Amino acid sequence: MRFFARTTCALAALVTSTSLALAADVEVLHWWTSGGEAGALNVLKQDLEAQGIGWQDMPVAGGGGTQAMTVLRARVTSGNPPSAVQLLGFDITDWAREGALANLNPVAEAGGWDAVVPEALQKFSKYDGEWIAVPVNIHSTNWVWANKPLLDELGIAEPTTWDELVAAMQKVKDAGKIAVAHGGQPWQDATIFDAVAMSTGGPEFYQKAFIDLDTETLGSDTMKQVFDRMTVIRGFVDDNFSGRDWNLASAMVINGEAAFQFMGDWAKGEFLNAGKVPGTDFLCFRFPGTQDQVTFNTDQFAVFKQGDSVTPEQTAFAEAIMSPEFQIAFNKVKGSVPARTDVSVESFDACGQKAYEELKAASASGNLFGSNAHGHANPASVKNALYDVITAQFNGEYDSATAVEEMVSAVELSQ
Ligand code: BGC
Repeated sequence: MRFFARTTCALAALVTSTSLALAADVEVLHWWTSGGEAGALNVLKQDLEAQGIGWQDMPVAGGGGTQAMTVLRARVTSGNPPSAVQLLGFDITDWAREGALANLNPVAEAGGWDAVVPEALQKFSKYDGEWIAVPVNIHSTNWVWANKPLLDELGIAEPTTWDELVAAMQKVKDAGKIAVAHGGQPWQDATIFDAVAMSTGGPEFYQKAFIDLDTETLGSDTMKQVFDRMTVIRGFVDDNFSGRDWNLASAMVINGEAAFQFMGDWAKGEFLNAGKVPGTDFLCFRFPGTQDQVTFNTDQFAVFKQGDSVTPEQTAFAEAIMSPEFQIAFNKVKGSVPARTDVSVESFDACGQKAYEELKAASASGNLFGSNAHGHANPASVKNALYDVITAQFNGEYDSATAVEEMVSAVELSQ
């Protein structure tokens, strides 16, 4: 009976997506504007165009989506929401709570999404039993991207502990090169902070501090040590780091100006886009001390209500994103891994295969955590409060002890 019901739905969805003349476009708001991101976006555009779905582009530059969220708020407030929007974690939940998102249950049921989308993602894709977003990928944030020829030239082996990392960064600096390519923007500072916090305090500390928002942990000596380590990293970035976009920081590693970038695996998209080969031109490894943990985020597309019901284009858009073939093609270019458990990553490069294996292992061992920097640990109000403290400390406005106090009160005020 159940199989029959599903099959009927699947047929209905197929009819909707293939045989209707889809006159309208989908307008897609996103922040994928770097070279690698644009390459991945093209895979999506082309996939939709092949199905007769027009694409109206609404790009809002700014890594991590900070600016995109401001534009989205303005569009929704003026009563003119885009039809589909790239969203992260708790932002999806926040919009769902406001009643702005359309119910995708019919297409989700037809596609059997419940059975193939990992639980950790469904937490954000569903609200009150309704599918309200479609996951396009799984990224993880605790990565190091390194220029391999430069490391070889300087005789630096892949660092596996904090001390080894510090020694490696010092060696690069002593050789007159930039050790860490970084862009001083709050979300980038926070991305490094996620990794340093996990490495310094371990998974239980990360959970208690950034997911449970436990006051004692937020105000602990371990947190002070995390800030001390941020100061150490600050000593290894170049003088022009302030405000630099993340992809320009990736370019510094790509062209050998810098040795390391601490960044999510969207950075791989930049290396691939520049024709670089993992293992030969660049290395991908977990931030030292976080080899067994994964801090993840997932880009999901939410469909904003345009009227009483989901439009055929929105349905076709959602269906296209969940297709296994699309998930493979897209994620190979984007640097992420598929948001489905039933696809093979055999055709992915070494970094992609490693990412997928480590994600599965972390999930099985209870070591998979939402990234705070990328909206998967807490709602934007808390995330932004943490950003402020992390960035102020990184820029020397607070010493570590003051930063700890500020963090405790910022989190308290933000809730
Ligand atoms: C998104 C990625 C994006 C990155 C840089 C992250 O929050 O999940 O898809 O490439 O920001 O813009």
